[in-house]
Amino acid sequence: MKKELIELRINGRTRELAIEPSKLLLDALRQDLQLTGSKRGCDDSSCGACTVLVDGIPMLSCTLLAASCEGQEITTVEGVSEHGALAAIQKAYGDWGGAQCGFCTPGFMMTVKHLLAINPNPSEDEIRHAISGNLCRCTGYTQMYQAVKAAIEAEQGQRQPEMVSQ
Ligand code: FES
Ligand code: FES
Repeated sequence: MKKELIELRINGRTRELAIEPSKLLLDALRQDLQLTGSKRGCDDSSCGACTVLVDGIPMLSCTLLAASCEGQEITTVEGVSEHGALAAIQKAYGDWGGAQCGFCTPGFMMTVKHLLAINPNPSEDEIRHAISGNLCRCTGYTQMYQAVKAAIEAEQGQRQPEMVSQ
């Protein structure tokens, strides 16, 4: 298929690439830009492992045409760290065991980044609701809730969180 030249804004940089018009954003990120943090975990839009932010909104990159994202600001998990240092949510995931195999983690990171951007102090129910579209086979989710709460408290300069209920 004939390729077209497009420009994508990704993690604050403009990237030019020649791709087929039918190419999905997830494939463009992974295959053309070597941004392999976003994962393909399913074939029916059900896992959330491919989640990226498009103009700040969590979107499934496995369902978006890359060309349709021209002119929009795309953030992937590679863009979550801040000035070369781990963001609070990344550090908390490590500290609290929020990731085991890690396959789902990039998608969770993006969903949580959006949640904390629109609601800096979410309740446990709000956290659970926000990440309900991101599936994890390993952790049982409890450590993830703890990590999110720890990140919130770290951002607020508060003490470590209490254990959350299962
Ligand atoms: S790869 Fe599973 S929702 Fe996109
Ligand atoms: S940590 Fe393995 S799928 Fe979530």
